[in-house]
Amino acid sequence: MYFRGRQYEVIFRNVFTNVQYELGKEILTLSNKSLEENGSGMFIQRIIGDTRTISAIFTDINRYMNGILSNIGIIVSFFVINKPMFFFVIFSLIIKMTIETKRINTYNKSEKEFRTLNDSLTSFTGEIVKGAEDIKMLNSEDSFLLELRKRFTALNEKKFKMENTKYNYYIIGWNWYSISHLITMCIIAFSIKNNTLTLAMGVTVYHFSNRYSNLIFNITNFQELIKRFNLSTSRILEIYDNEKLPKETFGKKHLDKVKGNFYFQNVTFKYGKNKVLKNLSFKVKANETVAFVGKSGAGKTTIFKLLCKMYDDYKGSITIDNTNIKELDKDSIRGNITIVSQNPYIFNMSIKDNLRLVKADITNKEIKEACKMACLDNFIEKLPDKYDTIIGEGGVNLSGGQKQRLAIARAFVQKTEIILFDEATSALDNETQTKIQQAIDNLQKDYTILIIAHRLSTIKNANRILVLDDGHIVAEGTHKQLMRNCKEYINLYNTEIRKKD
Ligand SMILES: Nc1ncnc2c1ncn2[C@@H]1O[C@H](COP(=O)(O)OP(=O)(O)OP(=O)(O)O)[C@@H](O)[C@H]1O
Ligand SMILES: [Mg+2]
Repeated sequence: MYFRGRQYEVIFRNVFTNVQYELGKEILTLSNKSLEENGSGMFIQRIIGDTRTISAIFTDINRYMNGILSNIGIIVSFFVINKPMFFFVIFSLIIKMTIETKRINTYNKSEKEFRTLNDSLTSFTGEIVKGAEDIKMLNSEDSFLLELRKRFTALNEKKFKMENTKYNYYIIGWNWYSISHLITMCIIAFSIKNNTLTLAMGVTVYHFSNRYSNLIFNITNFQELIKRFNLSTSRILEIYDNEKLPKETFGKKHLDKVKGNFYFQNVTFKYGKNKVLKNLSFKVKANETVAFVGKSGAGKTTIFKLLCKMYDDYKGSITIDNTNIKELDKDSIRGNITIVSQNPYIFNMSIKDNLRLVKADITNKEIKEACKMACLDNFIEKLPDKYDTIIGEGGVNLSGGQKQRLAIARAFVQKTEIILFDEATSALDNETQTKIQQAIDNLQKDYTILIIAHRLSTIKNANRILVLDDGHIVAEGTHKQLMRNCKEYINLYNTEIRKKD
């Protein structure tokens, strides 16, 4: 038992780890739409709960199989000792199994719904934990707790109903057990009276008759285990093969070094029914610096996302170096484009490790260099653990501007030919912004840089400014040209840009 126990643990752990890893890998291949349309709870529960259920089968199955096999011998001995008893045991088994199968099937159906409800509750609790700071500042703990209680109550009610059905079946099963016990005693008594069984054998059969209920117990548990296994497997396989969760698809063509000649040609794109880009066309030449301006919600970030192929259900075509991005493989696109996004995600690890994520073999010198360029080195050097300081989930220990600067440092580490800055300096003070702008300016000419910005100092340095309005580019040119002939730009300048510098 000692060795078996150890072996089971090894099997369980290995299966659990492998299935979790494979599932995690699979989730990362899902398209952005699949991830956005489903709450995080659905994925978390599958990675944590369902993988555990399916891995546990390898240890549990053994336990029940042992129980089943060792008790089958009893039925065989009944056949040898007393035929009426044998036929009754078979009959009793069939009745009990019918009841149990019905119970398990009913329970399993409700359990499927229960787990879906549980998925959404996990998403919600996750949101409460992540948004705890905002909830406190909004002073709205009560309404969140009320909502949480409501959801827990709905989940519990579902569970109570399920358990109720289960106990109804149990009552039928227990009654049948008592009846079958009585019948067993009658059969033994009659057999002794008819001299087909000695008294000693009668006592033995009675004693063993209790054990065949163990067999039923093991068989039904086994059935239940299989059902739970099937449910968890189907939930996991849903992620692998589901029309509602499309995967990202990439072409086969590989470009080693992309220069950065972009061409958006009549691109139309919508999020659900919301048409964001309408017949949008523009060109960017390699090593050019282009700024995008437009009102909030105009679709600037969306353009960057399409360029990185985060969505591919758009009309029209997007090409990089004259190759349609739909033909390119993943590395050609994402390995050649660095994006500093509007809300960069900083991971709960040290500063060093956050930078190592984008370049595994980075040296300490390179890390320092990148942070200096992003004006973050001074701040890091003042921290007690310097570059080994752990940053907290989502970068909670950092200010908005420090987070942005770390994201910029990450981009400087990755330093691909194409760099996209999405309002990367919006949270910085003028002095820091100027320094970083200088670093970005130093990259110009050798890199293709696209910048979304609201500051004149940033956009003035660009070779060209593209003005986005109502889903398409309404004008392009330098600041001076646009101030002369583009009313959307003038409007934007007067309401936003001028105030920021
Ligand atoms: N994932 C999404 N799902 C659905 N709609 C979205 C999604 N992302 C953006 N949108 C919508 O698309 C429109 C364009 O959004 P986008 O983020 O591209 O705007 P933006 O120009 O970058 O604005 P801002 O200057 O405020 O960052 C908005 O109306 C927004 O509500
Ligand atoms: Mg944006």
